[in-house]
Amino acid sequence: RAVLTFLGIESSCDDSAAAVVRAGNRTEILSSVVEGQVSLHAAYGGVVPEIAARAHAERLDACVERAMEEAGVSFADLDGIAVTAGPGLIGGVLSGVMLAKGLSAGTGLPLVGVNHLAGHALTPRLTDGLDFPYLMLLVSGGHCQFLIADGSEMFRRIGGTIDDAPGEAFDKTAKLLGLPQPGGPMVEAEAALGDAKCFAFPRPLLDRPGCDMSFSGLKTALLRTRDAVITAKGGLTLADRRNLCAGFQAAMVAVLEEKSRRALTLYLESAPTAPAFAVAGGVAANTAIRAALETVCDQMSVRFLAPPLRLCTDNAAMIAFAGIERFRLGHRDDATLSARPRWPL
Ligand code: KG4
Ligand code: ZN
Repeated sequence: RAVLTFLGIESSCDDSAAAVVRAGNRTEILSSVVEGQVSLHAAYGGVVPEIAARAHAERLDACVERAMEEAGVSFADLDGIAVTAGPGLIGGVLSGVMLAKGLSAGTGLPLVGVNHLAGHALTPRLTDGLDFPYLMLLVSGGHCQFLIADGSEMFRRIGGTIDDAPGEAFDKTAKLLGLPQPGGPMVEAEAALGDAKCFAFPRPLLDRPGCDMSFSGLKTALLRTRDAVITAKGGLTLADRRNLCAGFQAAMVAVLEEKSRRALTLYLESAPTAPAFAVAGGVAANTAIRAALETVCDQMSVRFLAPPLRLCTDNAAMIAFAGIERFRLGHRDDATLSARPRWPL
C-alpha cells in the first residue's frame, strides 16, 4: 500500500495540537505537538469555550510549524491535511478548520475533515496495526461509549453513558473533596490509600440489561455521603477523604468491568478471528480500571490493548492517521468543509 504522509490538526476541546504521520506498511508518528490549556481554565472549574477558542486561534499556527519542523518535512513532502471538523466546541473546531482550509488552498494539498471520535477509535490501528473488527471503549472527561469498529468509517455504538462521562465524575469528586483538577489522577492516588468498603456506593444500571451506563448518581452519592460525615463529625479527616475516593472508584471499576463483559459478549457474537478490546481517553490512565478490564479480557480470551497515554488523550497524530484512512477510502473535502459541533459517529 502506498506510503502517505499527512499533517493533522486538532482543536476541538482544550488541547491545540498538530502532528505529522506517515503510513504505509508501517505507521510512523513523525511528530506530535500538543499544547494544553489547563492553566488557562483552572480558575473556572471547567473549559471556558471563549477562552479555548482564542487560545487555539493564537497557538495553532505555531503548533503546525513546530510539528513540521520536528518531523523534518516541508509541505512538498505531504500528501494531505487532516483536521478535526467536530464534534467539539464550535470556536475551537472553527479555528482548526479555517487554518486547514487556508493551508490546503495555499499548498494545493487535499483536505480531509475528520470526526474527533473516529480519531480516538482508530488509535489502536495507529499504535498496533489492529485489524477490524475490534471493540473499543472510549472513556474521557467528555465521552463514554462502547463501539464495535468494523471499518475506518463503520462504527457500531452498542452502549454508553446516559448522563455524565466517567472523567467528569472523577473531576466532580475531586472538587467535592477539595482536591485539585484534573481530578482523575488525584482521586486515584487517594483511593489507593483508602478502604473501599468503608462507604457504600451504588452500582448504577448494573441491574438492567445492556451496555448503557450512568454516572451522575455516583456523584450525588458522594456528595450525600460526604455531607453525612461532615454533619456527624464536624469535618472530613484525611482517612475519610481517602475512603470516599476508594469507595467511589470501586463503584466506577465495578460498573465499567461488568458493562465491558457484556459489550465483549455482544462483540464476540460476530466471531472475530483475532478478538481485541482497546480503551482510549484520559480515564484509561486509571490503573485500577485498566487492571479490571485486562482481567475480563483474560477471562474471555480477548487481546487487551491500552495505547500509550499521550495517544489516549487528545492529540493530532490520531487525526492525521484517521485522515489517511479516510483518504484511502476516497474521501476528500474542499473549501465548503464546515465545523460541526455535533457529529455522531
Ligand atoms: O481524554 P481526556 O484527556 O480529555 C477529554 O475529556 O476529552 O480526558 C481527561 C479526563 C479528565 O476528566 C481526567 O480527570 C480523567 O480523564 N483522568 C483520569 C485519570 N487521569 C485522567 N480519571 C481517572 N483516573 C485517572 N488516573
Ligand atoms: Zn477526545
